[in-house]
Amino acid sequence: MEALESLPEWSQVLSGEPLRSLREEFASDPARTSTMTLHAGDLFVDYSKQRVDESALTDLLNLAKVREVSTSFQRMKNGERVNFTEGRAAGHMALRAPKDGTFLIDGVNVLPAVHSVLDRMADLARGIRSGEIVGSTGKRMCHIVNIGIGGSDLGPAMLYEALRSNRHEAISCHFVSNVDPADLEANLKGLNPEETMFVVASKTFTTVETLANARAAREWIVQALGLDAVDKHFVALSTNSDAVGGFGIDTTNMFEFWDWVGGRFSVASAIGLSVMIAVGPEIFEEFLSGMHLMDIHAAEAVGRDNAPLILALLNIWNTAVLSTKSRAVIPYSFDLRRFPAYLQQLIMESNGKSVRSDGSRISYSTSPVIWGEPGTNGQHAFMQLLHQGSDVVPVDFIGFARSSADDASRNELLFTNMVAQSQALAFGRTADELPESSVRSHRTFEGNRPSTTIVAPELSASVLGQLIALYEHATFFEGVIWDINSFDQWGVELGKELAQTLGSKLENFSALDHPDLDSSTHTLLSWFVQQQKKSS
Ligand code: F6P
Repeated sequence: MEALESLPEWSQVLSGEPLRSLREEFASDPARTSTMTLHAGDLFVDYSKQRVDESALTDLLNLAKVREVSTSFQRMKNGERVNFTEGRAAGHMALRAPKDGTFLIDGVNVLPAVHSVLDRMADLARGIRSGEIVGSTGKRMCHIVNIGIGGSDLGPAMLYEALRSNRHEAISCHFVSNVDPADLEANLKGLNPEETMFVVASKTFTTVETLANARAAREWIVQALGLDAVDKHFVALSTNSDAVGGFGIDTTNMFEFWDWVGGRFSVASAIGLSVMIAVGPEIFEEFLSGMHLMDIHAAEAVGRDNAPLILALLNIWNTAVLSTKSRAVIPYSFDLRRFPAYLQQLIMESNGKSVRSDGSRISYSTSPVIWGEPGTNGQHAFMQLLHQGSDVVPVDFIGFARSSADDASRNELLFTNMVAQSQALAFGRTADELPESSVRSHRTFEGNRPSTTIVAPELSASVLGQLIALYEHATFFEGVIWDINSFDQWGVELGKELAQTLGSKLENFSALDHPDLDSSTHTLLSWFVQQQKKSS
């Protein structure tokens, strides 16, 4: 692929002028919002408060065209090995495709296998929900503990909160990810082993944190109920049946997925099992349909009508032209409070790269830092910096007409607060609008701070699926334009290797033995060993 830097379309984008005043732009063009909004499924996207004009949008769409984003999307959809550094397809769209369709990977239609796993998951979910499937002592399974990390945790943990209003009343899910024993301990507190099922979620089944936590959980069950109870109280979600068997979980209790599903794209796979148990197969199916709806939209909507493409292009504009380094995602929804954390892995692990497909280093910025917390809480914490700080941070606001709470009395307060924040960011407040005072300059807001607002009638399972797929595809489109591989994550490997090496050095650590260690590492390990000695 030709280097982005050598494309005239890229130079054209870079030569673009960010809007100097959103305030003036809105005043002079009352039709601005009607041309800078779009519908995608149940989502309505308003990007009129971004600092782009018609000519910038045209330049960005020309760039997308010359980068052949639609062809790349089709290649992904055709099951080609778009994850070129690992020689794998990125087949996550197959996970939510209807049973009667076709999704070829290496010439094989994978949908029968996908649906056979979904059917087995549904059988287990129904059995647990109805009480037909019980623990080793005949008690109902009331507590589902998912042990996993990264994509094997963030997706189901976020979904479980987001679908709160659909949960089975007698079943609670717990998510253990941190290798800090405090995580497992806190989650198991008060649980009865007889009523607890562990779901060990790991694509590779080699992730040390997950295996360490799973071993501790296994010990907890064995201590309480004996070795024979393990079969009834443990299931595994993985691509690696040998390792699952080796760990001691019967592979008939394993729900499979495949190496063409990236961890951060795996929420629609068997990784969603604990959520399916909590909300039931029908709601999970609705969630998958929502994702599929957005898959079709991303494949078929053209240019300015394509929501993930527009999101991607605006992000590229903000990083390239406004030089923004971070981006906030602020859902005005309590139930979506884990969504920013979920997006952190999806976007930053995908597009936190600086080498292009031919292996050479790029000279432009790729993904900004993604962060966020729900509104209105953020207004009383970090929004000050977004309004008046020295750096510009673009925001994605996400809101709903109806809250998922039974009590609808504060919906208006929630929604109007979200819109007010986007207004204040965009239009600010000039000194003339303030009374004469010695602190007038402190109270002015320069405005012109970009945001996109994504709204939907309510946070249904389908809308949640649409939102996730929207961000998945935006992430993919960005990767195509930046010419990076959004599907590998080599950057996390070095830390894992070093942790292993340091772990082996800690055994019988003597301060004199390791002249090879840098002085900082040496000092920290020595301190740790001394502390351990003190407390033993
Ligand atoms: O270390 C990063 C990572 O590989 C993620 O991409 C992945 O989601 C996570 O670890 C967990 O991996 P696994 O599901 O194989 O345990």
